[in-house]
Amino acid sequence: MNKILLSGVKPSGELHIGNYFGALKQFVELQDEYKCFFFIPDLHAMNTQKDPKAMQESIINIVLDYLAVGIDPKKSVIFQQSQIPAHTEATWIFDTLVTMPYLMRAHAFKDAEAKNKDILVGTFNYPVLMAADILLYDTDLVPVGQDQKQHIEIARDIAQKFNNTYNTDLFKEPKEYIIENVAVVPGTDGQKMSKSYNNTIPLFADKETITKKVMSIVTDSGEGEPTNVKAIHLLIKDKDYVENLYKENKGQYKALKEALIDDLDAFISPMREKRAQLEKNKDEIIKIINEGTIKAKEIADAKLLKMREVTGLLLV
Ligand code: AMP
Ligand code: TRP
Repeated sequence: MNKILLSGVKPSGELHIGNYFGALKQFVELQDEYKCFFFIPDLHAMNTQKDPKAMQESIINIVLDYLAVGIDPKKSVIFQQSQIPAHTEATWIFDTLVTMPYLMRAHAFKDAEAKNKDILVGTFNYPVLMAADILLYDTDLVPVGQDQKQHIEIARDIAQKFNNTYNTDLFKEPKEYIIENVAVVPGTDGQKMSKSYNNTIPLFADKETITKKVMSIVTDSGEGEPTNVKAIHLLIKDKDYVENLYKENKGQYKALKEALIDDLDAFISPMREKRAQLEKNKDEIIKIINEGTIKAKEIADAKLLKMREVTGLLLV
């Protein structure tokens, strides 16, 4: 039996190459080695997405993204979180085991609190829902970027807490899978690439957008090498090629940026074209989601039934 891998990306707008190198690329590469579940965390997205039409579009879009980067629905299960009530039910059961001070130590909560004290209960509870996503499927491995590491630790703690409290081995402890050199992909300003910093290169950008974004890369670095340009170049080209290119074009920031534009376009265009093709058949996308959801639901429901059994909720 193959080990189990599960991950998901919140459906909340355009993906960027940080998401790709930090997470999605690993999804695709591990597809043959693991039994994979890639899901749409739409319940997580509800914390920020209140427009129903945009929500529907984002759900379809994230699946288009999954397929365009190479996730194959014949190999992997693609499912929609909100269509499987076991996720929210398991969350409640876990909520009765996790304390507020524990969740208040989470980085994401502290960041949210620093920005605005009016934190939604859904945001506070975000890691518990995430633990349910992971634990219901006996997940071994969760490929994510560095910013999600603590969430996987919380999932492990919750698995232990449940197992200890109910004297069972119902839950497996998952491990994160984080590749060090892409754990934090830098953006056009050298900070972590993130939608909220407006420093992204969209994963399916057209040449015009790529050009605009690359031209905006901040290049105030010494030694004749534009560090921020090179860091992005190293993601898509091998080290020897990049080192040679930067040696030959020392100090030539414009030429180096132009080379990056061409290399990025060559890298992105096959995925961009595949996505455009897939977009023409939305019914097929919905079918893929629904078929995957039926498969996942069966597994999650079986686990939830066991949770009810060991907690004494089941009267037989
Ligand atoms: P998010 O956009 O926060 O929903 O992230 C989706 C996935 O991409 C998560 O696994 C993140 O950890 C990962 N990710 C987001 N931004 C970056 C980045 N700049 N570098 C590496 N991974 C990232
Ligand atoms: N929090 C993740 C993100 O922002 C999305 C997510 C929700 C997730 N549940 C998960 C990722 C379970 C991996 C496993 O990207």
